[in-house]
Amino acid sequence: MMTKVQSSEGLAPKVSGPLPGPKAREVLERERNFVSGSHTKGYPFVADHGEGCFIWDPDGNCFLDFAAGIAVNLLGHNHPRVNEAVAAQMKKLAHYSAADFYYEPYGLLCERLAKLAPGDGPKKVFLSNSGTEAVECAIKLARYHTNRYHLIAFLGSFHGRSLGSLSLTSSRAVQRQGFGPMLGGVTHIPFPDEYHHRDLDSIDFLENVLFQRMIPPSDVAAIVLEPIQGEGGYLVMPPEHMKRIRKICDKHGILLIADEVQSGMGRTGKYFCMEHYGVEPDIITLAKGIANGLPLGATIARSHIMDWTAGAHTSTFGGNPVACVASLAVLNELKNGVLDNCARVGAFLTERLKALAEHHPLIGDVRGKGLMLAVELVHNRRTLEPATAERDRVVERAFQNGLLLIGCGFTGFRIVPPLTLSEREAQIGVDIIDRVLSEVESASGGQVHPSRK
Ligand SMILES: Cc1ncc(COP(=O)(O)O)c(C=O)c1O
Repeated sequence: MMTKVQSSEGLAPKVSGPLPGPKAREVLERERNFVSGSHTKGYPFVADHGEGCFIWDPDGNCFLDFAAGIAVNLLGHNHPRVNEAVAAQMKKLAHYSAADFYYEPYGLLCERLAKLAPGDGPKKVFLSNSGTEAVECAIKLARYHTNRYHLIAFLGSFHGRSLGSLSLTSSRAVQRQGFGPMLGGVTHIPFPDEYHHRDLDSIDFLENVLFQRMIPPSDVAAIVLEPIQGEGGYLVMPPEHMKRIRKICDKHGILLIADEVQSGMGRTGKYFCMEHYGVEPDIITLAKGIANGLPLGATIARSHIMDWTAGAHTSTFGGNPVACVASLAVLNELKNGVLDNCARVGAFLTERLKALAEHHPLIGDVRGKGLMLAVELVHNRRTLEPATAERDRVVERAFQNGLLLIGCGFTGFRIVPPLTLSEREAQIGVDIIDRVLSEVESASGGQVHPSRK
C-alpha cells in the first residue's frame, strides 16, 4: 500500500530579528557553563520543535531543515507513524537487554535488515546505539573472523570517535589530537577522489606498493570505506575503484566493510549506497537515520562471517525495543514512497544546484546522490583554491535567513534534509542558497575568478 509522503505544505522559513534570540541565548549560556566544550557547533541554532522538514527555535523562528540533526531525521520531525510505534512500545516495554534476554522487535528488525542488505547470501545483524559502536563491532568482527589484525582505511574518512573507530577516522587532525596512540595496524591511503586528485591512483598504490613493501595482504583483516565520504566532503567513490577494491579483497581473503552510517537507509535514493555500485560488501554499518532520531546502530554481515561465540560481543542498551520499533516504522515508510521521493527530489535538487553554479563562480562542484548532496566552494575552478571563509559565511547567512545547512570537508556544505522533502521545499532552500551566495560573493569582492574554469 502506498502511503502519502508526509508533507509540510504551506510552511515556510520565518526569522524575526537577529539570531540567536533571547530564549535561545539562555540555552546557550547554560551550555557554556555546564556542557563539555568538545562539541563542534557551527552556529548557534537551538532546536525546540519540528514538523516535517521545518524546525523552530524557542523564540518561534522557523527554519527549513537541510541538516536533519546531521543526516538523521529521515522522515522529518514529528512523524505520526513513528510516534505511534514509539508510544505504543513505551507503554509496553521500554528496555530489556538483548545481551541476556529476548524481545520480539530486536529479531524482527534484524530479519528486515538482513533481507534488505545487498547480495544474495544469508546475513546476520548486531544492533548497537550509534555509528561508532556499529563500526567498533565491524572492526572486532573482521579481526575475529579473519584472525588478522591489519586494517586499511581512507584519508578523509570519518568512522566515529571511540578509540577503535577513531583509529580509522582521518578527516581532521583535531579529532585525534591528544588521544594517541591509536589502534595498531591501521594504514590510511588517499581516497580515490576524482575532483581533487585526478591523477592519483591509490588503489594501485595499495596493491603494487604497500602490499609489496610494507603490509603483507595476508595480515589484512579488512578494507574499510565510506562509499560517499561524509564528514570528509561528500566525495563519491568512483564505481571502477569500488570494483577494484572488491577484487583485491577477493584475491587476498580481505573483508570489505562499507560504513553506511551516513549514506545508508535510503539517503542516496536506495536502501544502501553500495547498491549503486553493484558491489556486495562483507560487512555494512548503519546508524544515524535508521530509527528517525532514536539511538540505534546496526552491523550487518554475511552469516558465515558473523561466526563469533557467545560472550564475544554484546551491549546492555543496543537494539533497545523502542528504537527497534521506530526503525521498523522507518523501513515501512521507505518502502511506501519515501525512497522514491528521495531519488526524485534529490535529482531535482541536484539539477537546481548545478544551475546555480552557472551564475555563482564560488561553486566549484555539486556532488552526491539522492538527498546526500554537497556544494564545494572554491576561489578558482582550475586551481580549486578552497573558499573556506566564504563557506563558513554562506552557512552562517543561510541560518540567519531560515535555512539550516552543515559544513563538510574544509570548504563544502552538505544538504541532508529529511527524505520526505518536497520539490517546493527544495526550491525554497535553493532560493535561499542563491541569495546568500550572491551576498557572500559581492562581499568577497574580486577574489573569485569566474572565467578560470
Ligand atoms: C560514516 C560515519 N561513520 C560513523 C559515524 C559515527 O557515528 P556516531 O556519531 O553515531 O557515533 C559517522 C558520524 O557522522 C559517520 O558519518
